[in-house]
Amino acid sequence: MNPAENSSTAANGASARGAKDHIVIFDTTLRDGEQCPGASMTFEEKLQVATLLDDMGVDVIEAGFPIASDGDFESVREIAKTVKRSVICGLARANPGDIDRAGEAIKPAARGRIHTFIGTSPLHRQFQLQLDQEQVYERVISSVTRARNYTDDVEWSPMDATRTEHDFLCRVIEAAIKAGATTINVPDTVGYATPEEYFELIRMLIERVPNSDKAIFSTHCHDDLGLAVANSLAGVRAGARQIECTINGLGERAGNAALEEVVMAIRTRGDIMPFETGIDSTHLMRASKLISTVTSFPVQYNKAIIGRNAFAHESGIHQDGVLKNAETYEIMTPESVGVTKNALVMGKHSGRHAFREKLKDLGFSLGENALEEVFKRFKDLADRKKDVYDEDIEALVGDEILTAHDRVKLVSLSIVAGTRGPQRATIRLDIDGTERMEEAEGNGPVDAVFNVIKKLVPHEATLELYQVHAVTGGTDAQAEVSIRLKADNGEVTGRGADPDTLVASARAYLSALNRLRARVARTHAHAATP
Ligand code: KIV
Ligand code: ZN
Repeated sequence: MNPAENSSTAANGASARGAKDHIVIFDTTLRDGEQCPGASMTFEEKLQVATLLDDMGVDVIEAGFPIASDGDFESVREIAKTVKRSVICGLARANPGDIDRAGEAIKPAARGRIHTFIGTSPLHRQFQLQLDQEQVYERVISSVTRARNYTDDVEWSPMDATRTEHDFLCRVIEAAIKAGATTINVPDTVGYATPEEYFELIRMLIERVPNSDKAIFSTHCHDDLGLAVANSLAGVRAGARQIECTINGLGERAGNAALEEVVMAIRTRGDIMPFETGIDSTHLMRASKLISTVTSFPVQYNKAIIGRNAFAHESGIHQDGVLKNAETYEIMTPESVGVTKNALVMGKHSGRHAFREKLKDLGFSLGENALEEVFKRFKDLADRKKDVYDEDIEALVGDEILTAHDRVKLVSLSIVAGTRGPQRATIRLDIDGTERMEEAEGNGPVDAVFNVIKKLVPHEATLELYQVHAVTGGTDAQAEVSIRLKADNGEVTGRGADPDTLVASARAYLSALNRLRARVARTHAHAATP
């Protein structure tokens, strides 16, 4: 059978537009991405991400794993209520409890999907599930059948498919489609496959599974060998018509295929990949920045498509070429992925109206309170810094998004530092509406700052990562500090920006601590729920 026929015949909500070569973009930033240590997002942040994904044209948003926690359930449900265009998907293992919870969570969605999975490889069957082939086979049928009671859009995944025996894989896929699965996802769960192997696997499945034309085949590739995007594209060339991916490639271990990379590869190399996605690529940079902000995971400078250097030309020969004709060294335009020029912003005399317009240009829409906060900080910054760039404003907005619901806030900080230690910090914090002040010494000013904060907000978490980078060039640049804290109940990250590195450090530390406190409060609330 011609694999391309596969996409047009599936009775699947996401493929309803019927375009033969449309590639369904299934974003799992809020599920597989959020699953990675330290990347957890708050309820509000998840909603913001989902809204942006919907705006940019993502076909399916995997909004979470509803059985995992009440918080996950609530956020999937709220996203299902709010998002109007994308299909909203909830993940479920192959058991009735998971499927019922996912079914409940997606109920308010205009179009909802349940994605259910079970490990099929010998390793998963034997060590994780302790089930034999027949038992797994039965669970596939019962789980897909149960999911179909909630929605006719059911996706099924054989976890660790790339290490599963081919005969068994064909058998379970056939059974899943017969039971009503409309999308068959083929996960390279451990990022083990190479593009040639993955191509052959998808082709073999489409050819051998007798009812393969009744479902869309999907790629789900992890990046352990740096091959996730290459494997996903190989899968599409072999006949898959859905790609599962995440913004910035966020995900378990080395992450998933990066959405921005698959989208731009398909768009830029239309000559050899005659497919299209519904993604408005001018949103890519904004999406990347939002994810980086809410997870506090920095984006590597040379990251394809959305890295800070992705469109920077340093060598004289390259600069000369680009000035004469950008195509000499650019295969895509910066504008096509939403990169704005390093534009100078108005400065200290600019008013609220101009500032609001600037935020709009940068793709942010803030509520009145948040706008007022960011505007105040912008004025402050413009007083202290000669030139205020787009990146500076983005850092301030990022701070506001992260800290809007914080209950512990920095009021003031002063430091005694220099060659003659010990260094000493004095800090005033607003803790749940009450101001308190303390001071402490440390082995260097950053250590002193963190010691005072620990006195004011006692905790047992350990500092796993402390990272500083300059938001722009120049000695008056804002410092952006990223922090990761490890506690008994998991890892949290925080980020803060300020022209003073120590203030940025205090902000970052407090943003991580606020997340930790919120997590503890949530756990207590759940424990108290009968
Ligand atoms: O990597 C994986 O196998 C998964 C499944 C849940 C699809 O994330
Ligand atoms: Zn995965």
